[in-house]
Amino acid sequence: MAITLNINGSAHEVDAPEDMPLLWAIRDVLGMTGTKFGCGVASCGACTVHVDGEPTRACQTPIGSVGEAAVTTIEGLSGPVAQAVQSAWQDLDVVQCGYCQSGQIMSAVGLLTENPKPDDQAIDDYMWGNVCRCATYTRIRAAIHEASSRMEA
Ligand code: FES
Ligand code: FES
Repeated sequence: MAITLNINGSAHEVDAPEDMPLLWAIRDVLGMTGTKFGCGVASCGACTVHVDGEPTRACQTPIGSVGEAAVTTIEGLSGPVAQAVQSAWQDLDVVQCGYCQSGQIMSAVGLLTENPKPDDQAIDDYMWGNVCRCATYTRIRAAIHEASSRMEA
């Protein structure tokens, strides 16, 4: 059955069963490969997208549950918080292999949207589910602080 998904501001028709994970629809059916597959069981955060602005693990979200909610992937991220995060990420050279980083950025934007001035503890509490095998955690935390200051400027 065809399901229409609202992704990055456009309607996308996906001819797939309702229990297909959103991650598969995004990557395999629609070819948007910025969102990554890591664990498949909601434990690593690599697949994080926003559903109605909320960071969500796409590997554990059936497309049948999404309805008309607005899905945003790394390809469609925009706005002042996203710009602050992306520019801080770039300037602080956060990325190592890069595999986890689109998920990290989606979560960081979610955090700063909810809490524009997080302290270290708030960052750790919010970001703990985004695993980085290259252990870039110190730079991720610094970049979130930097993005927070850029949002104030
Ligand atoms: S691939 Fe979804 S949380 Fe790991
Ligand atoms: S940068 Fe390599 S997994 Fe995070």
